[in-house]
Amino acid sequence: MIFLPTTLLALASCALLPTALASSPWGHPTSNRNSTIHNPILPGFHPDPSCIFIPDGVHAQTFLCASSSFNAFPGIPLHASVDLQNWKLIGHVLNRPSQLPRLAETNRSTSGIWAPTLRYHDKTFWLVTTLVDDDRPKEDSSRWDNVIFKAKDPWDPMSWSKAVHFEFEGYDTEPFWDADGKTYINGAHAWQVGPAIQQAEVNLETGEVGEWKTIWNGTGGMAPEGPHIYRRDGWYYLLAAEGGTGVDHMVTMARSRSVHGPFEANPANPVLTNANTTSLFQTVGHADLFADASGNYWGVALSTRSGPSYLNYPMGRETVLTPVSWPSGSDFPIWSPISGTTSSWPLPNPSPKNKKIPDGPMSGPYITEDDHTTTFSNKPGLPAHFTHWRFPNPLHYAVSPPEKKGTLKLNPSKLNLTGLENGNYAGAQGQSFVGRRQQDTLFRYAIDIDFVPEKEGDEAGVSVFLTQNHHLDLGVVLLPAGSATTSTESTFPGHNSSSTEEKGGLVPHVRFRGISYIPVPEPVVVALPEYWVGGSLTLEIKAINFTHYAFSVGPAGRRSEMQTVVTASNAAVSWGFTGTILGVYCTSNGRRENGVGAPVYVRKWVYEGEGQFRD
Ligand SMILES: *[C@@H]1O[C@H](CO)[C@@H](O)[C@H](O)[C@H]1NC(C)=O
Ligand SMILES: *[C@@H]1O[C@H](CO)[C@@H](O)[C@H](O)[C@H]1NC(C)=O
Ligand SMILES: *[C@@H]1O[C@H](CO)[C@@H](O)[C@H](O)[C@H]1NC(C)=O
Ligand SMILES: *[C@@H]1O[C@H](CO)[C@@H](O)[C@H](O)[C@H]1NC(C)=O
Ligand SMILES: *[C@@H]1O[C@H](CO)[C@@H](O)[C@H](O)[C@H]1NC(C)=O
Ligand SMILES: *[C@@H]1O[C@H](CO)[C@@H](O)[C@H](O)[C@H]1NC(C)=O
Ligand SMILES: *[C@@H]1O[C@H](CO)[C@@H](O)[C@H](O)[C@H]1NC(C)=O
Repeated sequence: MIFLPTTLLALASCALLPTALASSPWGHPTSNRNSTIHNPILPGFHPDPSCIFIPDGVHAQTFLCASSSFNAFPGIPLHASVDLQNWKLIGHVLNRPSQLPRLAETNRSTSGIWAPTLRYHDKTFWLVTTLVDDDRPKEDSSRWDNVIFKAKDPWDPMSWSKAVHFEFEGYDTEPFWDADGKTYINGAHAWQVGPAIQQAEVNLETGEVGEWKTIWNGTGGMAPEGPHIYRRDGWYYLLAAEGGTGVDHMVTMARSRSVHGPFEANPANPVLTNANTTSLFQTVGHADLFADASGNYWGVALSTRSGPSYLNYPMGRETVLTPVSWPSGSDFPIWSPISGTTSSWPLPNPSPKNKKIPDGPMSGPYITEDDHTTTFSNKPGLPAHFTHWRFPNPLHYAVSPPEKKGTLKLNPSKLNLTGLENGNYAGAQGQSFVGRRQQDTLFRYAIDIDFVPEKEGDEAGVSVFLTQNHHLDLGVVLLPAGSATTSTESTFPGHNSSSTEEKGGLVPHVRFRGISYIPVPEPVVVALPEYWVGGSLTLEIKAINFTHYAFSVGPAGRRSEMQTVVTASNAAVSWGFTGTILGVYCTSNGRRENGVGAPVYVRKWVYEGEGQFRD
């Protein structure tokens, strides 16, 4: 593994590679100013990328990418860049419950928003995607809720329309405009006709669709999906993902003289895969393709930094970039393989006046920026990159409440992060949880909290949250005296809890608890040292290496007194379709009505990247 601190990477990405070649084997003018791409471009939970280059209008010369978000809300994040290197969150397509109320009811962590396709056509931005209810049988047509959003200005959250629904028993849907004025949706279909890429004519304004027809069956890989059609030199090029979203994932292409096919497969398929390699970057697939202002093509795909063992990948599927050679008049494009650092022709070099990505009302930070939000008083709302699981209950959150200015307050939800017994549902009541994506292999996430639990089961803490069935939590919880699994003296040298425990009754404890399909450490329960009771505490999660997190606690502002309660493997949160979110929760563990009980106040919130593994 190569570990580069972020600051060095910033320098490295500007390095010029000396070369004297006149032209590349692909006919591109090579430059003696090749650039270096550092992957992933969107680290952390940003799967199924779909990206465009905006040639005109107020956002001319900007690249814009959408990614899928499953049950996370706000959903469908949008990241913009002018140079393909620096990416900034500019908002979310799904930014208010009224656009798609059904996200409140999705069951299962693999449900929610699947792969979106972002397109710009005739001065309008379109986003087509599927809200999937993955616990419903495949024969149930209500499993697939296909939707269309549109906006005049993606930077303005209110500009994004409500969902327009259309009938399709499948997923990975995209709009395509043909030269003759007809509009189609292409999508992936999983069962009635066998796995296939299908197409129907559509009215994007009303959602009315024509008859669905299979246009390609893929090259024989499992689950042909993620179709994108591009028109070029009189051909229709069809790009697809095959092999499933695990280590066999790959990108294949085919072309036809007609939008309806028949499509002939590229003899050089797959055009992009890291299957059967030892690369850190695995599961490469689900790609999209776009050209910059100079006519250079670029591909984006999802990838998992797991290595071939595919056991430790808490950040899940991330977005990666690669140069694609597609000179005019050539047959199929040639994709450079995905790696942590790739030499490419020059990255777009925006003119000085276009160098900055404009902020919108809901813009967040650059993707590589840390959180140093020390108070919650500067802005009325939460930072744009803060994320909930399904819609938040607005009554459960307050920024800088009158009783404790400068803090973030969470009222407890009845349900904990696991939710109901099946672990899949939280319903419209929601779970009091807000976090931000893990975006660095190594990081430190720490919050200072004030929390005075009142009744048994009252709990607040920090979590590495992947799904309702996969999360590792370190919290403060009120439990009967004598509940500890380990003594205060041994966990916190120099401290004990004798006087609080002698009183009997309920005692605040520090508890680590994990849940996963993959083995997790046994719960650790320790009575809080008596001198810490009633004071502010720091709860910290640190990725100490490629495979492990350390969970620590101590009195706020006294870092030397922090003690690690447990180290846990991140394999427990390496699973499925999502990526880890680091955040704060507050719950009564099912013992009180929703919203009733002791709130937690977050005084300080820090996330610092401490290193990316790229090799
Ligand atoms: C999700 O599961 C819950 C509990 O099993 C059930 O009540 C609810 O109807 C389900 N929701 C949907 C949208 O299927
Ligand atoms: C796809 O496969 C099905 C089932 O094998 C076959 O009936 C159909 O003709 C094929 N479609 C195309 C476009 O190749
Ligand atoms: C990976 O190797 C296996 C076994 O040789 C082979 O079946 C598969 O097609 C390969 N996958 C790709 C995408 O090359
Ligand atoms: C410059 O980038 C192109 C595109 O990736 C590549 O084909 C070429 O080999 C690179 N040149 C050098 C000297 O690395
Ligand atoms: C607990 O700590 C206090 C303060 O350090 C000390 O006075 C007391 O003796 C300790 N009690 C036990 C049972 O160790
Ligand atoms: C990471 O740290 C843990 C705990 O110290 C250790 O058990 C594990 O072997 C380390 N893993 C690596 C890849 O260094
Ligand atoms: C979550 O809360 C339920 C009660 O609603 C409780 O049975 C369960 O033990 C809790 N579990 C976890 C891991 O949070």
